[in-house]
Amino acid sequence: MYVILLGPPGVGKGTQGVLLAEAFGWERVVTGDLLRQARADETEIGREAQRYMDAGELVPDQVVVELVAEKLKPLPADCGVLFDGYPRNAAQASALAEILEELGRAIDQVVVLTADDQILVERIAGRRSCVSCGAVFNVFVDPSESGELCDRCNSPLHHRPDDQEDTVRHRLDVYREQTQPLIAFYEQSSVEVHSLDGSLGVDQVQDAVRNALGVGSAAR
Ligand code: AP5
Repeated sequence: MYVILLGPPGVGKGTQGVLLAEAFGWERVVTGDLLRQARADETEIGREAQRYMDAGELVPDQVVVELVAEKLKPLPADCGVLFDGYPRNAAQASALAEILEELGRAIDQVVVLTADDQILVERIAGRRSCVSCGAVFNVFVDPSESGELCDRCNSPLHHRPDDQEDTVRHRLDVYREQTQPLIAFYEQSSVEVHSLDGSLGVDQVQDAVRNALGVGSAAR
């Protein structure tokens, strides 16, 4: 199954994507993580992406489309894929359709998570991410055990540079202008679109996502 997780910054795409991937063995294609890795590795792409990410702007399409194509091509045909943070505008959606067509695949379903801006800003204010493995915690609802270090790999946690409130508000504007129109784009296509309340608790949202995708529940 090929699924796009769509929604504004902080709505829980990453949180839900990790749970689905762990439960069903699906591959995650997370452009934000691919770009952050490129930055950490100090590649040319990483250096180019940095100023856009720090400003809360979209990184140029060509850069992310290449990253996604590289990630997708080696995957076995029967492997489920979750797209998180991609596509983010019409050009990226068209590019994804072309890449998938070349591979003989297609998007099956789109899950749209929604929540009020106030909730999104609060969640992002509390987010702490591992500098090494990328695991995500939240000082309010899901703190790491030690508070300062990652429970998985013991590396330091940080507040992402683009998680400052001003940048978050700009990212929300960018989402509304460039990404939200994709909901109508997919609704007008043959792809199933499920709009779900992302403001509920993590487990409730996970159940709703699984019901919508028709994959049932799994022990967790
Ligand atoms: P990216 O990393 O994709 O950021 P985003 O889309 O803004 O999404 P976030 O990672 O902020 O939020 P999320 O929805 O995954 O929430 P999470 O699960 O972490 O992109 C960053 C930048 O990279 C972009 O601004 C752009 O510059 C660039 N970029 C990336 N992709 C691009 C593309 N395709 N094209 C161009 N540029 C691109 O949850 C947030 C917090 O809330 C966590 O602390 C979590 O613990 C908590 N939480 C989650 N769910 C719940 C819940 N149900 N209840 C309570 N707390 C919860």
